[in-house]
Amino acid sequence: MRRIEVERPATWIALTGFMGVGKTRIGRELARELMLHFVDLDRYIEREAGLTIPDIFRYLGEAAFREMERQAVEEIVNKDYIVVSLGGGTFTQPRIREKLLVRGPVVALWASPETIYERVQRRPGKRPLLAEGDPLGKIKKLLAEREAIYRQAHVHVSSEGRSPQETTAEIVEKLWSLRNSR
Ligand code: S3P
Repeated sequence: MRRIEVERPATWIALTGFMGVGKTRIGRELARELMLHFVDLDRYIEREAGLTIPDIFRYLGEAAFREMERQAVEEIVNKDYIVVSLGGGTFTQPRIREKLLVRGPVVALWASPETIYERVQRRPGKRPLLAEGDPLGKIKKLLAEREAIYRQAHVHVSSEGRSPQETTAEIVEKLWSLRNSR
């Protein structure tokens, strides 16, 4: 197809961050804003597997899910003109993380444990890692374990108390600064 190049700060962007920070909602908005294709990695895996994420965890286990995640990322890094919203754990796998950091800017979204808790409560059963016991306690523990990993992203933006449009506008601004600094 004939392509008229649009001015964009990047043509391949990954969004990372903890569950419930708004990766899917903001990723979709960012893709629309930059006229890029949107891929939600969890939905991509569900389509490939023919199973929902909770069912993959239940019937195949977390290790099988992590392998599916790895394969899905291998496929997505080979596509062009993409905004991909990763799962909350995708970036924690070292080999995947290296690939993503080379492929394009990685944007980390941030929110407080309390806000994450409130957001994930709206979709009970969707997140197997928070399904049992004390979800707020688990969020705090897992977030503390993963914080240094998410910190390795190129760009950091808070989604706390802001609309997806406001958050997206800040991402675009920071992506331009990143591009101009390179
Ligand atoms: C996970 C996050 C989930 C999903 C799976 C595991 C994680 O994605 O990939 O339940 O390890 O943090 P979201 O961050 O989109 O909820």
